[in-house]
Amino acid sequence: MNVIYWFSGTGNSFYAAKKIAERLEDCDLLPISKLAQLPPDCERVGFVFPHYALGVPNLVREKLEDIDLSGNQSAYFFAVETCGAFPGSCLGQVNTLLKKQGAVLSYGTVIRMFANNVVNYDMKGDPAEKAAAAEPAIQAAAVAIQQKQAIKIPHTQLLYQLPYRAITATYPKKGLQFHADENCTGCGMCAKLCPAGNITMQNGRPMFGASCEQCVACIQWCPRRAIQFGNKTQARTRYHHPAIQAGELFRAAAPPAKKSLHSPQ
Ligand SMILES: Cc1cc2nc3c(=O)[nH]c(=O)nc-3n(C[C@H](O)[C@H](O)[C@H](O)COP(=O)(O)O)c2cc1C
Ligand code: SF4
Ligand code: SF4
Repeated sequence: MNVIYWFSGTGNSFYAAKKIAERLEDCDLLPISKLAQLPPDCERVGFVFPHYALGVPNLVREKLEDIDLSGNQSAYFFAVETCGAFPGSCLGQVNTLLKKQGAVLSYGTVIRMFANNVVNYDMKGDPAEKAAAAEPAIQAAAVAIQQKQAIKIPHTQLLYQLPYRAITATYPKKGLQFHADENCTGCGMCAKLCPAGNITMQNGRPMFGASCEQCVACIQWCPRRAIQFGNKTQARTRYHHPAIQAGELFRAAAPPAKKSLHSPQ
């Protein structure tokens, strides 16, 4: 069997993961938050995630640090990183983490998609055009993975590691800078979508904690555009991948439990 673990705030990486899974036969598509122990008979194991500040999202790094690869060291490991503008590759970072567990990353690629970090900038570009432009690279990755192509994984430049650590260390507490404004209807979608469990509904209003991944899912998907980051985002547009809907993302984030994948017994 094949398994892809994904992390995605606005659906770009989820869309890429879904297309790759469609190409492979017998492929489970699972949120990386569920990653603990792999089933014993994996043929291909993939990780698909966005590029954050010169590296992988905190949750992806933490999961790869803790992963138990017993019996799977010789599987075909691949990684697909989606990015907005600056494709400073973090494939080397994934390879280093896998090597600590006796495995290697055989293949990886970086795919440019819509730049979604609404907290930092006013997003520009046509989502449909950007999605269409990414399609050939996604299909090429799917074919390469199906054929188990191998490439030389570039080392992550040391120069990148300090800013990566410094920037991503600020993410958990940045969650405290989100708030819901008067347009909130209390629908609870933001809490359902949060991959970090950082949003709790209290008296019909979302409350944000200090365990944020900065995935921007809450602010981007809120159907009322009611979530703001301080006073920066009131006038900014919102984005999600045009072919992905919120319901699909949160159903995929809570797949039916499979004993072989999620529990060691
Ligand atoms: C917190 C954060 C940091 C990001 N950092 C970068 C970056 O350093 N370089 C870049 O090209 N894109 C960056 N992006 C943009 C995302 O990598 C890109 O839009 C990605 O495709 C989003 O994937 P998703 O829809 O699966 O969440 C960042 C996005 C966020 C939310
Ligand atoms: S998704 Fe938006 S409208 Fe719904 S509870 Fe969250 S902030 Fe309120
Ligand atoms: S609070 Fe919002 S930005 Fe932070 S992890 Fe949850 S959904 Fe993502």
